[in-house]
Amino acid sequence: MRQPLIERYRDYLPVSPKTPVVSLLEGSTPLLPLKGPPEAREQGIQLFAKYEGLNPTASFKDRGMTLAVSKAVEEGARAVAAASTGNTSASAAAYAARAGIQAIVVLPAGYVALGKLAQTLVHGATIVQVEGNFDAALRIVRELTERYPVALVNSINPYRIEGQKTIAFEVAEDLGDAPEFHALPVGNAGNITAHWKGYRELHAAGEIPRLPRMLGFQAEGAAPIVKGHPVEKPETVATAIRIGNPASWQGALAARDESGGAIEAVPDEEILAAWRYLASEEGIFVEPASAASLAGVWRWLKEKKIPPESRVVLTLTGHGLKDPGTAEREVRLPDPIPARVEAVAAAAGLE
Ligand code: F0G
Repeated sequence: MRQPLIERYRDYLPVSPKTPVVSLLEGSTPLLPLKGPPEAREQGIQLFAKYEGLNPTASFKDRGMTLAVSKAVEEGARAVAAASTGNTSASAAAYAARAGIQAIVVLPAGYVALGKLAQTLVHGATIVQVEGNFDAALRIVRELTERYPVALVNSINPYRIEGQKTIAFEVAEDLGDAPEFHALPVGNAGNITAHWKGYRELHAAGEIPRLPRMLGFQAEGAAPIVKGHPVEKPETVATAIRIGNPASWQGALAARDESGGAIEAVPDEEILAAWRYLASEEGIFVEPASAASLAGVWRWLKEKKIPPESRVVLTLTGHGLKDPGTAEREVRLPDPIPARVEAVAAAAGLE
């Protein structure tokens, strides 16, 4: 029987027997070996996808949200609040529904993908759309939760990071070791901070002999960490990581520097090429932000910066169904034809 993430990793998490476990049986996602693009195969490099789209609300956020909402309930909260580019709001809405408390989510108007909005709405969250970007929404939520009796469940809440670090535990369990490289998209930078914390804890406990190099990828139009200063007007097709002033900036730098890794920017065209590749060649449909991990690693492969025989894990952070709008824009639907077998055979290229 599948277990709640909190039960599975209780010894590594800040919970006590008094903590109510609010769970949707998150985590335990598959680590899928990929065929890999030709550059990987030619260089003897094995890629793996940690497919976080298979969490209960279809993104990695559920790992952190189970803990953040459980602790909020333990502490007596009747409501939780988060700013979000969409996935945090969907997850907060679902876990709040499960706990029977209110979720208040503050969203950048016009920039949340349709699937995420639908989830958040149907789970019954209180949605507030602001005329501003994610960074503005986060500023507001921070202040709101200081002034009112509402628990903040953005990743500046340390319980979120604690929950999300379990991804490293699962990868190490599946590989029997840490990979040589672990790549992921970077937005607000909580997840790279969490990955690195997980690996460090395993290493300190003697469970893994060495640590991976962390590779974080931002979208070129929203790459404050790469540029070294906040970006006033972040823009990218990968709306999940359309963030100009990441809250966990320092955590991301520490992961990069302590692991001997890198944080780089990838252009939207390369994100979309990787997104298409994953769906059409590997059978894995992710949302655009998730594909930033492969887009970045693809560059490293082309530049032969990854030693042969390396294992590279890509965190694929969210499911493709989250963002049907991008699919509709990027992939043309053919026009209807008459309902006759000859016409269909011709259209299908069988004749
Ligand atoms: N990938 C997806 C699909 C995301 O939703 C996010 C963040 C990231 C990557 C980046 O993770 O912020 O920890 O560096 N989404 C947040 C949200 C901001 O509100 O859903 P990060």
